[in-house]
Amino acid sequence: MYFIQLNRNIEILPNDFNKISEKISYGNIVYFTTEDLTINVKRILPERYRNQFSLLIFEAYERIHPHIDDIITVSINFYVSPGNYETKFYDIVTDQHIYRTGKAGGRVFPKRNLKEVGGFIAKPNEIWLLDVTKPHSVEPLSSISEIRQVVTLQSSKYSYNEVIEMIKETGYL
Ligand SMILES: [Fe+2]
Repeated sequence: MYFIQLNRNIEILPNDFNKISEKISYGNIVYFTTEDLTINVKRILPERYRNQFSLLIFEAYERIHPHIDDIITVSINFYVSPGNYETKFYDIVTDQHIYRTGKAGGRVFPKRNLKEVGGFIAKPNEIWLLDVTKPHSVEPLSSISEIRQVVTLQSSKYSYNEVIEMIKETGYL
């Protein structure tokens, strides 16, 4: 599978993180650089890898169409306020996509070229590891447009399976 839930939750409160500046925004997602004031979320990784993951906060709302992230290979998402959404993953049936340009570019796929393989509905304080080299989307489960706020650790260097091994070392998987 392309996603897995870590075996422990971490509760994050509004004052635990300091949003510093807007890094990237595209569509309905805004990423902020941030400072971890109290939690040390990087404790889920062995110390020797911690400086190779970037720490960001993103805020998103409404639907995010199926896409593959550019550059980033894995995201470890700490769902501060997940809203009422399902994250879905797909296999590519026909590789037809459009390339979204810009700093946060990536490949966007029409759903007809994909086969849904699974998904999850995150609850507050849960932590999920995502293989963002696979097409994924976020679908609202209610008609109210709720903001999702997620603290994320991202790597562009390690594969999903490598990160699973890292997290097993700290006991979070
Ligand atoms: Fe993504």
